[in-house]
Amino acid sequence: MRKKLVILGAQWGDEGKGKVVDVLSESFDLNVRYQGGANAGHTVVVEGHKTILHHLPTGILHKNTSCVIAQGMVVDLKGLKEELSKIKSLGIDYEGRLYLSDKVHLVLPYHKHLDALFEKKGKIGTTLRGIGPAYMFKYGRRGIRLADLQDQDRFEELVRQNVEFVKDISEKVFGEKFETTVDQIVQEYMSIYDRIKDFVTDTAQLIANFKGSILFEGAQGTMLDVDAGTYPYVTSSNSSALGLCNGTGLPPKFFADAYTVGVTKAYATRVGDGPFPTELKGKEGDLLRDLGGEYGSTTGRPRRCGWIDLVALKHAVETNGFDAIIITKLDVLDSFDKVKVCVAYEVEGERVERFPSSLSTLERCKPIYEEFEGWKTSTRGISSEEDLPSQARAFISFIEDFLGVPVVMVSTGPSREEFLWLKNRIRTELIPS
Ligand code: GDP
Ligand code: IMO
Ligand code: MG
Repeated sequence: MRKKLVILGAQWGDEGKGKVVDVLSESFDLNVRYQGGANAGHTVVVEGHKTILHHLPTGILHKNTSCVIAQGMVVDLKGLKEELSKIKSLGIDYEGRLYLSDKVHLVLPYHKHLDALFEKKGKIGTTLRGIGPAYMFKYGRRGIRLADLQDQDRFEELVRQNVEFVKDISEKVFGEKFETTVDQIVQEYMSIYDRIKDFVTDTAQLIANFKGSILFEGAQGTMLDVDAGTYPYVTSSNSSALGLCNGTGLPPKFFADAYTVGVTKAYATRVGDGPFPTELKGKEGDLLRDLGGEYGSTTGRPRRCGWIDLVALKHAVETNGFDAIIITKLDVLDSFDKVKVCVAYEVEGERVERFPSSLSTLERCKPIYEEFEGWKTSTRGISSEEDLPSQARAFISFIEDFLGVPVVMVSTGPSREEFLWLKNRIRTELIPS
């Protein structure tokens, strides 16, 4: 049994990480989010009640699991405050088990304003949560960190400089008025800071010295990683395993004994713009969207849908070094006569087996499929491997063989209890006893 588990999205986000982390985090002492921000929407369904987490680690729903928002995240304090109120209204007490890094960068109203302006020119289809501009400011050394709020004068000065800078960009480059008052931002954020400052600490040190078991919860997915993904149609952080060190502030050797698991849907979705070789634009795509309820958890946008893409998943396996795979939403394929799996691409008569880096090549990729018989029966809530229809087992085995990584869990519905384990040996490795 290992004491560190990393759960990552293997596709374009929304793979069902929230569902999986909810199931697993109850057995962990600590749950860490370490990159992204309120662009994430991780859904948990318990007794028919849906909760969507944006900043908070999903384990916040389990009273014995402590939670960390680590240094690599960009945090919208207003959004976080609302999330905390929601959690409280569910009767969940987080006092004493939630920790926020003093190094997180703040997402401020002017970042959201810039996100919207940038989207007007050269659209990426972002969540408009200010994520790209917040990371731009961080790496451009104009960011404001939570630690800066310890000194109100310093905070005010930094906000003033940034507001002037954004006003210039907005009015001189985009010709759009930007009205905001520094005082209002300072007052509002200082008052939120006062309410959460007891949770603020050096989380890298906390994690490094932590004696219990730790679950690291990735946001977004490998194909949205700023380096490994379909650049520039990506998010602005390393949302694959590449983000673990800078996101947590811990050295590579800390993760040497971690178990890394990728989450994929039994098909594929993408929300926002950018290449998606297996996208189904007609009736089949609409059917997947309807059956899978494929509308963004954060923005409500309809998700683009298509068949599972093993070329992209192989790239994710290589990038992250997955020890195992979890397949979610198997039930969404229950009614299909045939189920397809993309095994390679064709680009102008050539067979391509590795995920291309070039956007123009990607845009010309046509999927080459293997076809499987559908199982045409409900898999909802099946809890043991023997009860899975043979066609579904053949589909899962093919994915395992192709990727060279075992499938350890299958999710068969949105609710907490709708899943099954496939390999008991791995299950005991994955969950601390
Ligand atoms: P995340 O961002 O990776 O946590 O995924 P989201 O929560 O954004 O999107 C996944 C959606 O699928 C949510 O609405 C979940 O409730 C739902 N979901 C998760 N697992 C399953 C499953 O196995 N079957 C079905 N039908 N829905 C699922
Ligand atoms: P979770 O954690 C799906 C997508 C956006 C857009 C691109 C850049 O719930 O899986 P951004 O706002 O980050 O600058 O947008 O990334 N995106 C996500 N897609 N799930 C997410 O998070 C996403 N977070 C960002 O749609 O295409
Ligand atoms: Mg999501």
